[in-house]
Amino acid sequence: MEAKKVMLSGIQPSGDLHLGNYLGAIKNWADRAEEFDCYYFMADLHTITVRQDPALLRKRTITQLAQYIACGLDPEKNTLFIQSHVPAHAQLAWVLECYTMFGELSRMTQFKDKSSKHQDNINAGLFTYPSLMAADILLYQPDYVPVGEDQKQHVEITRDIAVRFNNIYGDVFKVPEPYIPKAGARVYGLTTPGDKMSKSVPEGCVFMMDDPAVIAKKFKRAVTDSDREHCVYYDRENKPGVANLMNIYSAVTGKSYEEIEREFDGQGYGVFKPAVGEAVIEMLRPIREETERILADKAYLESVYKAGAERAGRVAFKTLRKVYKKVGFVAP
Ligand code: TYM
Repeated sequence: MEAKKVMLSGIQPSGDLHLGNYLGAIKNWADRAEEFDCYYFMADLHTITVRQDPALLRKRTITQLAQYIACGLDPEKNTLFIQSHVPAHAQLAWVLECYTMFGELSRMTQFKDKSSKHQDNINAGLFTYPSLMAADILLYQPDYVPVGEDQKQHVEITRDIAVRFNNIYGDVFKVPEPYIPKAGARVYGLTTPGDKMSKSVPEGCVFMMDDPAVIAKKFKRAVTDSDREHCVYYDRENKPGVANLMNIYSAVTGKSYEEIEREFDGQGYGVFKPAVGEAVIEMLRPIREETERILADKAYLESVYKAGAERAGRVAFKTLRKVYKKVGFVAP
């Protein structure tokens, strides 16, 4: 029998999960378990590149695990774990830092972005973050890394690091492909349709645990444009707010832009905006309810992350051992 292909991805528990995380990433993780060998984790090591509240970080990490399961990731079929529970991530990250160039790290958009936002804390971890992410990925030899558009650059540097390492030591790492969805790859903020949806602008960010009334209000207040006719058609440049709402609606319902244009022809934004909100509410409702149910069972969640770390640890250690041998470390 041919071995299953491998899929892996992670999300930082630095904030509550939002619609961008769901449509850009998680939605494409569920339902893959039969076809792929899947690894999904809470990227807690990454979060401390920016200061975190320790109690809140712990709470968000557990909530995120419950959300993964509520989104359809069955822990029996997917390996779900907390990044810091598998020491090989930090161990391989160090090795890969020595095969990552200062120049490439300097070009990373996320580094430039975060260092300009947190000028009082431009730490070494923020700079070497992509080497840790490369370690996260390469340890599991995945074929695909399902992420939103904004993480594509990090998957590309991972590929460069893997190729560089393989060129010196032979075929140690599989070179993975990013797997980016057609709709929902880049969800913009509802109040800032020029910038990606992010927790830093909460009024334009739809959190997965938001109350339906709150979600409805956020969509009603979504920024559109001054088109007097209130025409719903796709024009990313001139109608970014409408384009974003169409993209969200398309990702949620599976409808094409032409179908959406026809559906709202002559109806105006007053009908369109609440309709998108309603579709999102109905998509998120069962996930939120299921998350709350799972969160009440702390012992179950603990058993999931413990079993996950054990499974992930075995696979990761195999790659780490190979790398240590290749670079010349004496076997412990
Ligand atoms: P993070 O935690 O910022 O985001 C998690 C996932 O959500 C996607 N995403 C979005 N997609 C569409 N529209 C948006 N507005 C939006 N905002 C976020 C991201 O593309 C991502 O897929 N470095 C990573 C976490 C990470 C990782 C990894 C991912 C660490 N190690 C290994 C894959 C493999 C990050 O900060 O994503």
